[in-house]
Amino acid sequence: MRRILETGMVRPVASGEKILVMQNIKKEFFGVPVLKDVTLKLAAGEILGLVGENGAGKSTLMKILSGAYGCDSYEGEIMVNGVAQRFHSKTDSEHAGIEMIYQEISLHLDLTVAENIYLGCLPQKRRGWVDWKRLYAEADRALALVGLNLNSRSRVRSLSTSQQQLLSIAKALVRNPKILVLDEPTSALTESETRTLLGLLRGLRDRGIASIYISHKLDEVFAIVDRMTVMRDGNIVANYEQGKIDPEKVVEDMVGRKIENMYPKGQAQKGAEVLRVRNLTVPHPLAPQKNIVENVGFSLHQGEVLGLAGLVGAGRSELVNAIFGAIPTRGRAEIYVEGKLTKISRPLDAIQAGLGLVTEDRRKSGFVGTLKVDKNISLASLKRLSAHGFVKRRQERADVKKYADKLRIKLRGLEDSVLALSGGNQQKVVLAKWLMRDVKVLFLDEPTRGIDVGAKVEIYSLINDLAQKGVGIVMISSELPELISVCDRFLVLAKGHIQDEFDRGQASQERIMKAATGLAR
Ligand SMILES: Nc1ncnc2c1ncn2[C@@H]1O[C@H](COP(=O)(O)OP(=O)(O)OP(=O)(O)O)[C@@H](O)[C@H]1O
Ligand SMILES: [Mg+2]
Repeated sequence: MRRILETGMVRPVASGEKILVMQNIKKEFFGVPVLKDVTLKLAAGEILGLVGENGAGKSTLMKILSGAYGCDSYEGEIMVNGVAQRFHSKTDSEHAGIEMIYQEISLHLDLTVAENIYLGCLPQKRRGWVDWKRLYAEADRALALVGLNLNSRSRVRSLSTSQQQLLSIAKALVRNPKILVLDEPTSALTESETRTLLGLLRGLRDRGIASIYISHKLDEVFAIVDRMTVMRDGNIVANYEQGKIDPEKVVEDMVGRKIENMYPKGQAQKGAEVLRVRNLTVPHPLAPQKNIVENVGFSLHQGEVLGLAGLVGAGRSELVNAIFGAIPTRGRAEIYVEGKLTKISRPLDAIQAGLGLVTEDRRKSGFVGTLKVDKNISLASLKRLSAHGFVKRRQERADVKKYADKLRIKLRGLEDSVLALSGGNQQKVVLAKWLMRDVKVLFLDEPTRGIDVGAKVEIYSLINDLAQKGVGIVMISSELPELISVCDRFLVLAKGHIQDEFDRGQASQERIMKAATGLAR
């Protein structure tokens, strides 16, 4: 078995040498060109940032490199260290030293952590017996490398999303890659996990391992990469050399227009109280004798955008999911909608009371894979769109199209399968569904995660429109600049309690971080 955990196993390559060339790559899906003529080069020991709008073709290009799309499914050439390659499968590309961490986590949930890491290359004793002792010891070292403090014998199913994400990275690293591809690796990571990962990538770079880094968190990309390549509509539209990366220009290249104001803020009238929550306690999902949210209460007015800040694990998602009836509460919580005490014990009750929730994990609870794009978007609005038991098709189509256009959902037609959309475009479908519905209160849990910078601006302006219509909005976001710019009032949660509360005028990243880390008061 190859091992990289000892340093110095990788031959340092003179910088500038091209370790990878993907030349004139063209790919179609059902006759629609998705990669038009793409040439991408990677030098040994560099980190290349690959950015572009949702649906630009980034993941498709990388799936070609990883062998997930075999060499007969596209035109063009791949060369690794000057040698032409024909990958028929992922195994072929692994043999050439390429490891990919996919946007969608692909682990075996019922196997242990250690088995997942070493799947296909389990350490063996003589006569082919698996060397379990060595397996767990090696796995522990791999976990330490990515900063994961876990028992390598536990099942992957019991891990949080961020732990699974880090585990995928550990799994790639033990295979001793020459080229590491990371497709949105930090979308589920906390800030400190992100820092660990970025540090790790820098360390790998120093040892000659090259990486391709895809992310919509542009600040992170600017901080880590040596060079940048921008894709738009299946083409490469710009390359930036080290030291010459201009963030504003990159954004313009990505979306094809200048973004004057990243955070448009409307002036909505604050109306009557639309939601009041009292005494809300939520048992901890993993340790039910503890509470993840304890005795929380707050109120929300029409036209108000309330920001819920806090570190991951502070109970923000649990708070909104509990109000929505999606997870159980403890004790006697009271929820008032427009002043009326409302019993919400399941999501349907919440929907009927006029609440909407865009969940953080949209893949699990956001869309219905068997339905087309249009039906997914209109799903929550069917009541409004129906008369005498029939859906008014013309209005349904018009409404769906309006929101699909507004959010710039990239698709061929509204009858596309949601499963054929790029990751970010799937997220936009779920957002469109709730933005289109008539709601009194809308909870948005990380609404811009995985969404390109152009569409983020559209989402902020849709939030403004809703507020102006009198909708009360509760927004969770781990990106503080975004949260501070979009919201009117803030609650900071830590350890299940509200630690601080203030208006837009008093908000700053420092104040939020202080409260979130328990330093305030
Ligand atoms: N299996 C498929 N069948 C049909 N079309 C597909 C399929 N996979 C991707 N596409 C289309 O190819 C285009 C590029 O998708 P891709 O996933 O590469 O985008 P991306 O740049 O990774 O976007 P994101 O930032 O949203 O992840 C999209 O228009 C998408 O709808
Ligand atoms: Mg993608």
